[in-house]
Amino acid sequence: MNSSHSPAEPLLRVQGLRKLFGSTAALDGIDFSLAPGEFLTLLGPSGSGKTTTLMSIAGFVAPSAGEIFHRGAPITSRPPEDRGFGMVFQGYALFPHMTVEQNVRFPLSIRGVSGGEARTRARAALEQVQLGAYAGRYPRQLSGGQQQRVALARALVYRPDALLLDEPLSALDKKLRADLQWELRKLNKESGASFLYVTHDQEEALSMSDRIVIFNQGRIAQIGSPSELYERPASLFVAEFLGRSNVLQGTVRSAGQDGLAVDYEGGVIQVAGAPRACAAGDSVSLVVRPHKLRLASAGQPGLQARVEAVGYAGNLLNYLLRTPRGTPLYLECVAGAGQHPDLRQGADVRVAVDGEAVSVLEAARP
Ligand SMILES: Nc1ncnc2c1ncn2[C@@H]1O[C@H](COP(=O)(O)OP(=O)(O)O)[C@@H](O)[C@H]1O
Ligand SMILES: [Mg+2]
Repeated sequence: MNSSHSPAEPLLRVQGLRKLFGSTAALDGIDFSLAPGEFLTLLGPSGSGKTTTLMSIAGFVAPSAGEIFHRGAPITSRPPEDRGFGMVFQGYALFPHMTVEQNVRFPLSIRGVSGGEARTRARAALEQVQLGAYAGRYPRQLSGGQQQRVALARALVYRPDALLLDEPLSALDKKLRADLQWELRKLNKESGASFLYVTHDQEEALSMSDRIVIFNQGRIAQIGSPSELYERPASLFVAEFLGRSNVLQGTVRSAGQDGLAVDYEGGVIQVAGAPRACAAGDSVSLVVRPHKLRLASAGQPGLQARVEAVGYAGNLLNYLLRTPRGTPLYLECVAGAGQHPDLRQGADVRVAVDGEAVSVLEAARP
């Protein structure tokens, strides 16, 4: 650890990163930073540039332009072994002929740590991932989840200040993945190491991260905390990538200090606040999450819709409604908590939009 490092300085900073493969830009101006101890996730569809970014940071891909800083010092042209980051990938990549403990000791031995100290540290790392009792086994004698835990112990054993993880859970089944998500989160906070985590799974990103960087076609679409991105997406791409949204195309009727009135399919939707500069006549897309729609009470303004289908999701009920003009509306409520008797398949209802929970975006191109 570098004691002159100030806490305000990012642990890692990526500036203007570009990568061309032939004439195609896999990365086209990537800028973000990773704070000490932070769990930062790179999230985006397949092919959006997440792995290329991680590999540039690790030192296995040479960027075409841009700079990477570690504690303020440029490392862009340093070889991977000088950067000292811990790495965990989708494949477990354990040495099959070595025991669990030998695998975990390996990064120590290449750093000249051996004997009793190596043993103590390897044992401690295995305890951290709850595999203390498996030190003498071989990788083939472990489940996929256990092998991935060994890979984590091996990455943490030499106490790197950052761990780079590329889809480490994607080979595991859903239940195991959920268990390991909690463990990764805990290891991040206990070890104090920053985690830079790549996934294409939006639920995983939302549940684990301190902040998320959303990638789209080699560029950053938005950076923010999970709730900022989920509740206040800056674009339709972000809104739709992070789960189900209602997207309502309307026209601004009036814009004032305390909000907008938007004409929508013969009704008016009131939007609180003034999140975007808008003027009367502008076409806008209103984005609102399914749990921010509810049935209008008598006398309250609402959108006409018919209940088309009801879906049961354990703790939640999902409703697909449709307006008279054929626009789908998704409404979600907590099962058992005052769900409305009118929400039956085939029923005609009126839907109220929570004006505090609407993101106002530029209208989507038809
Ligand atoms: N070695 C390579 N040679 C040519 N194209 C590549 C190479 N690596 C990645 N790409 C391309 O760069 C883009 C980004 O890839 P990648 O970073 O792997 O995306 P992600 O990890 O988000 O799925 C893709 O279009 C991919 O095909
Ligand atoms: Mg990838």
